[in-house]
Amino acid sequence: MKKFGTIIGLGYCLPDNIVNNNDLEKMVDTSDQWIRERTGILRRRILDREKPSSDMGIEASLKAIKNSGIEASEIDLVIVSTESPDYLTPSMACIIQGGIDAVNAAAFDLNAACSGFVYALTVADQFIQTGMYKNILVVACEGLSKVVDWKDRNTCVLFGDGAGACVLTASDEPGILGYDIGADGKKYKNITIPCTHFSEEELFKRKNKRDQVIYMEGREVFKFAVNAMTDSVNKLLREQDLSIEDIDWIIPHQANMRIINNSVSKMNFPIEKVIITLDEYGNTSSASIPIALAEAYDSGKIKSGQKIILVGFGGGLTWASTLIQWI
Ligand code: ACO
Repeated sequence: MKKFGTIIGLGYCLPDNIVNNNDLEKMVDTSDQWIRERTGILRRRILDREKPSSDMGIEASLKAIKNSGIEASEIDLVIVSTESPDYLTPSMACIIQGGIDAVNAAAFDLNAACSGFVYALTVADQFIQTGMYKNILVVACEGLSKVVDWKDRNTCVLFGDGAGACVLTASDEPGILGYDIGADGKKYKNITIPCTHFSEEELFKRKNKRDQVIYMEGREVFKFAVNAMTDSVNKLLREQDLSIEDIDWIIPHQANMRIINNSVSKMNFPIEKVIITLDEYGNTSSASIPIALAEAYDSGKIKSGQKIILVGFGGGLTWASTLIQWI
């Protein structure tokens, strides 16, 4: 009998350290008012510099596994979405697999920037549909604070750290109903974090002699994001033969409140049915969607039988959306 991926456990982890907009006023030429009005962010969580980001992934994963009711040893595969790994090798997935004692699991990282969690869910669901694996742990784990230039006001006010995780299991009924993932690699220069190749062009763009930090063409990404999210959701709805009125919740990538407002109004979807964590946690890249999902689930907002769309965009440039029917 054909199997489908269904989420049976969720968990998330945020660092304790809260950095308010007022704290950033002391570091760069910015203001609480500018950050609130232009982004919707009030504060973000920042991991202690000496701690590895994978610690957050381990904590989120342990919570998701406990919540799922299965044992770590029953997990067949760990997929970690990250664009801010602790090491180039080993993968963050191997570190987390070891940290949670998922001794029977294969493990690999996937990088689709902020779209990464939905990409990873898609890959995990494919492994389940082929019958290769039964239980898959999907984690998004991001320590963006480590790759931000804290003297660059264009980017440092936007990001925060965190991790979200879910356990996906093979079920007779589909929990994940469909997905749409895509990329426009011709636009790759709009968001970059150099790793081993430091071109003159990239070095020129970065001030303060910092080379291994994020650079972003904010306005270009903004325009791309609104269209990419709207187009992806509309495509998904068409494929599922559904209309926007059939959807109970949208959980978008948490990057900018104006991007979220513009795209949901283009979809004619009420903002009251959009899960928002951006004000509290900022942009945690690929972790933002699973953190928002897990928090919404914990607070009782998400109920059995509801249809939820997760939709993200980010570096690459990439986009991704998925439709979930909650069990
Ligand atoms: N404080 C005060 N002023 C600022 C700040 C700041 N923190 N940052 C920029 N400004 C200034 C600019 O210098 C500019 O000044 P100027 O007019 O004198 O040149 C002015 O504010 C307007 O700048 P814009 O870049 O046009 O500001 P915008 O309204 O577009 O907001 C922002 C910038 C918030 C970055 C927005 O473009 C955005 O959110 N873009 C999308 C980013 C995103 O979603 N990224 C997700 C992917 S990230 C990933 O994959 C890791």
